[in-house]
Amino acid sequence: MYPYLDRNHHELQADVRRFAIESIAPVARELDETARFPWENVRAMAERGWFGVPVPRELSGMGRDYLSYALVLEELAKHDASHSITVSAHTTLATSPILAFGTDEQKARFVPLLASGQVLGGFGLTEPGAGSDASGTTTRAVPVKGGYTITGSKIFITHGGVGEIYVVTAVTDPDGGHHGITSFVVCKPTVDRAEARRVGVGHRPELPYSAGVSAGAKEDKLGWRASDTRELHFQEAWVGEDQRLGEEGLGFVNFMKTLDAGRIGIAALSLGIAQGAFDEAVRYTTRRRQFNRPVWDFQDIHFGLAELATEIQAARHLVYHAAWLNDHGRPVTKEAAMAKLTAATLAAKAARTAVQFLGGAGYTSDHPVERMMRDAKACEIGEGTSEIQKTVIARQLHRELNP
Ligand code: CAA
Repeated sequence: MYPYLDRNHHELQADVRRFAIESIAPVARELDETARFPWENVRAMAERGWFGVPVPRELSGMGRDYLSYALVLEELAKHDASHSITVSAHTTLATSPILAFGTDEQKARFVPLLASGQVLGGFGLTEPGAGSDASGTTTRAVPVKGGYTITGSKIFITHGGVGEIYVVTAVTDPDGGHHGITSFVVCKPTVDRAEARRVGVGHRPELPYSAGVSAGAKEDKLGWRASDTRELHFQEAWVGEDQRLGEEGLGFVNFMKTLDAGRIGIAALSLGIAQGAFDEAVRYTTRRRQFNRPVWDFQDIHFGLAELATEIQAARHLVYHAAWLNDHGRPVTKEAAMAKLTAATLAAKAARTAVQFLGGAGYTSDHPVERMMRDAKACEIGEGTSEIQKTVIARQLHRELNP
């Protein structure tokens, strides 16, 4: 898509597209039905470098730009959003804060294992009392000799079970409001050690596991069912001072910055669902015949698809532009929120429209559009609800109008 994509982007896009068609599409339905985590494909994606797309080569990443990363998420999500969120949560929520705010020692210790996909990472922010109001964190980190003990609970944590390295927020100064929140890198062994042994990725015993960290039961979700979402509990879990990420009190602002870039990832994932649903609808409506002609010939159908194609194109411009801004070190808070708001809303609309255009067939699991409809809903909730995106956009507009 001129002017954003060069030859390298197109080649990566083609590689991911091929992999998604050959290795994801055939298993997506079964993974969704059984809510099984796709360990085999995790290993295959790790071998291809896709758990470290925007990470520098010297830290075992692919050394590619953020736009490349967005393309990977989009292509994966065309066939299965669970694969896409697995790469996205790992990369933007676990690896990127360590890259952005970690010391050289922390980067060398944790990033290569994450970027090469040797272990999976997660982000421990949301709590029972701290969702959209992210500053409502009550998980506590108490300074002790040589480090901190962390006590509290996080909910809806992607990779809470299968992962090993987490960036976790906790209150170090209870009177400090959002300035009293600090981030830590916390490790625990994967709950799937047998699977990790079988596929050869997912567990690295040399990590500094903290006793007192445990994962809850896997959530039974409406969509993104093959991704691993759980609670994460901390019971006086000790972490060394060298696992504090950034200065005390900077946790909130740092995760706001992390979420800015993360939202471009979810926007790309949403775009992938929208495109995937659209492709299914075109395929079906051009073949399916009713009243002696393809249903495509009915104006309601081809007008509907023309509208969707236009909206997908518009969303793609927003998503790639936000990634481009991020790659060029420009402010991205507003544009990332706009991209996510637009693409997530569109994913839900495109999947719903596809189900409608497929009729009875679309309502069965014989076609992926019903799964896409369930998967798309998560895009309007995860990494900031659509209402939060509007709040972020409005606040930025206010700032621009009142400098
Ligand atoms: N970049 C840098 N700094 C930022 C910032 C940004 N984007 N946004 C806010 N800040 C700073 C402000 O400048 C301010 O700093 P000072 O106090 O030093 O001046 C501080 O952060 C507090 O800002 P606000 O007063 O705006 O904070 P708030 O409490 O009103 O909250 C909010 C703002 C936008 C609502 C925020 O809480 C938010 O984004 N909430 C949504 C949380 C979210 O997205 N959760 C998803 C979790 S991850 C997930 O969901 C994973 C998954 O599904 C897979």
